[in-house]
Amino acid sequence: MSLETVAAPPPATIVCVTGASGFIGSWIIMRLLERGYVVRATVRDPGDSKKVKHLIELPGADTNLTLWKADMNIEGSYDEAVQGCECVFHMATPMDFESDDPENEVIKPTVDGMLSIMRSCTKAKTVKKLIFTNSAGTLNVEEHQKPVYNEANWSDLDFIYSKKMTGWMYFVSKILAEKEAMKAAKESNINFISIIPPVVVGPFFMPTFPPSLITALSPITGNEAHYSIIKQGQFVHVDDLCEAHIFLFEHPEAEGRYICSSHDATIYDIAKMIGENWPEYHIPTEFEGIDKDIAVVSFSSKKLMDMGFSFKYTLEDMYRGAIESCREKGMLPFSTQIHTNGENKESLLNSQEKHSQINTNGENKDSILNSQINTNGENKDPILNSHDKHSQIHTNGENEESILNSQEKHSQIRTNGENKESIFDSLEKHDTDNNQEKELLPIPKEKHADRQEMQI
Ligand SMILES: *[C@@H]1O[C@H](CO)[C@@H](O)[C@H](O)[C@H]1NC(C)=O
Ligand SMILES: *[C@@H]1O[C@H](CO)[C@@H](O)[C@H](O)[C@H]1NC(C)=O
Repeated sequence: MSLETVAAPPPATIVCVTGASGFIGSWIIMRLLERGYVVRATVRDPGDSKKVKHLIELPGADTNLTLWKADMNIEGSYDEAVQGCECVFHMATPMDFESDDPENEVIKPTVDGMLSIMRSCTKAKTVKKLIFTNSAGTLNVEEHQKPVYNEANWSDLDFIYSKKMTGWMYFVSKILAEKEAMKAAKESNINFISIIPPVVVGPFFMPTFPPSLITALSPITGNEAHYSIIKQGQFVHVDDLCEAHIFLFEHPEAEGRYICSSHDATIYDIAKMIGENWPEYHIPTEFEGIDKDIAVVSFSSKKLMDMGFSFKYTLEDMYRGAIESCREKGMLPFSTQIHTNGENKESLLNSQEKHSQINTNGENKDSILNSQINTNGENKDPILNSHDKHSQIHTNGENEESILNSQEKHSQIRTNGENKESIFDSLEKHDTDNNQEKELLPIPKEKHADRQEMQI
């Protein structure tokens, strides 16, 4: 981000960010601090240093960032944090996909939580805008995908209720929360703005693996469960998304819903782009069941752009940021390419393995996906072998395996000679307090987490 884009706001404009420790939350806090805003970050447990360290260490945090304890389930919980703020960026959302009583345990609390934050804003009297980071789940969950979606479009509630696909309660909760908030906002003086992001991709400094990158990087990791999510995908850079949030806060005429999506691409486009830029990764050229000529489905950001917002990042930029952050943190191997000079070699992830040898002469190979990784002398489930798990999520009318289902194992990968936590491990951490942020698609609740907050 170049310096000239940083406009100085009037002194000490105070804003609040809920779901502060997640992918989008932490990034927007960094940008807000850079601009000289005074930021109140709400988390469920400010005392948990693992979840807040990356925020506290941000430049400017020592003077201009404070952490506030708040919980969407508790009425009035946000009163204090919001008091004196001009804007609230609401990024946290409760999830419990395994609920036995989704109406009362997911939908109602989400809607009530949203309304409770709205009431906190009204009580504060200082809040002019409430900006809700919404979900594509409110936009295009319907039986047949259309070529172009805009802000006038809503997911089909009847379809969602009739299919009850996994995550259905999440879609419903977001749709109802948005609609209720719109109604409530009319009765107050608060300008309610809803931002609809697609798959969010880019660099990160949160300590755990951003769930949306599981989807975005699936052509590299071979996580087939996620292919259909980006089969006809839409993408935005995390920085563009955060800039759009700030832009809409600062823009006096902003109102209503805004799609914030810069690129539409099919999985074949994504695979080609990754393959060209990172030839060290083995990227499929065929995706089973997905037609090579599949149509692009577009999310139109015209409304946002017509107000003067422009996207700065290319699809390559998004992936470069994501891949570099993952590599730095040891969450992604540096290569999955199979090197040979006519000899059989083991792949990085396949090293030390027993029943798979990758033979690049094109014969009878076990893919990386089916191999097992052996590190520390133990058999571990392979990082890439996520597709043989069993739970299914249902999005856009299709069955998908869940993200978290692919993460129940505790493998370790070895990169640069160090043991690092794998993607699985980092996601297995039970950030019950944290909003694991995930755009677009649901992340079913982990087996052991009682509750998570995340953004989809
Ligand atoms: C903190 O916020 C104040 C008020 O906006 C601003 O003047 C100051 O430069 C900020 N400090 C840092 C370290 O960013
Ligand atoms: C979106 O809404 C507009 C306006 O109601 C409508 O013309 C269009 O067909 C809708 N598109 C989709 C994809 O449903």
